[in-house]
Amino acid sequence: MSRFVLLNGPNLGLLGRRQPHLYGTSTLADVETLLRNRLVGTGATLDAFQHDVEGELVAFLGRVFLDHEEHKVKTLGVVFNPGAYTHTSIALRDACEILAQAGISVVEVHLSNVFAREPFRHHSYLSPVAKGVVVGLGAQGYALALEALLSHNGLA
Ligand code: DQA
Repeated sequence: MSRFVLLNGPNLGLLGRRQPHLYGTSTLADVETLLRNRLVGTGATLDAFQHDVEGELVAFLGRVFLDHEEHKVKTLGVVFNPGAYTHTSIALRDACEILAQAGISVVEVHLSNVFAREPFRHHSYLSPVAKGVVVGLGAQGYALALEALLSHNGLA
């Protein structure tokens, strides 16, 4: 069985309640349902993980890589909102680069338009190693990222 991964970083477990004027009213559970529904009939599944701690996200991506390399779980792509770590984390960038070099595409997602916000949000350590970036389209951005990964895998 092949899967896609939905990965969310710090404070994104609060989606729906957290600053809805910036991030919308959909919860992370709503986003997961949206993506799971899209995968019906494709033969692929979704594994979702959220954590507030950088090292846990790095460790999770490390397991994605190892499981893929050892032919235990084939990952077709990762939809990743790294939250604030986008702007700070070389470790997460390295983890995404490891995946990219193993043939696992990562699409970076931001609910808000980070370029219309504070200057410190304009730089992403991850974007250079991501397959693509979806910014400012709210929860729909996750669905668009999955759509791109489906298409990339010939499943759209
Ligand atoms: C975010 C943007 C980041 O700058 C911020 O730290 C977040 C959410 C977004 O989805 O718009 O936590 O990644």
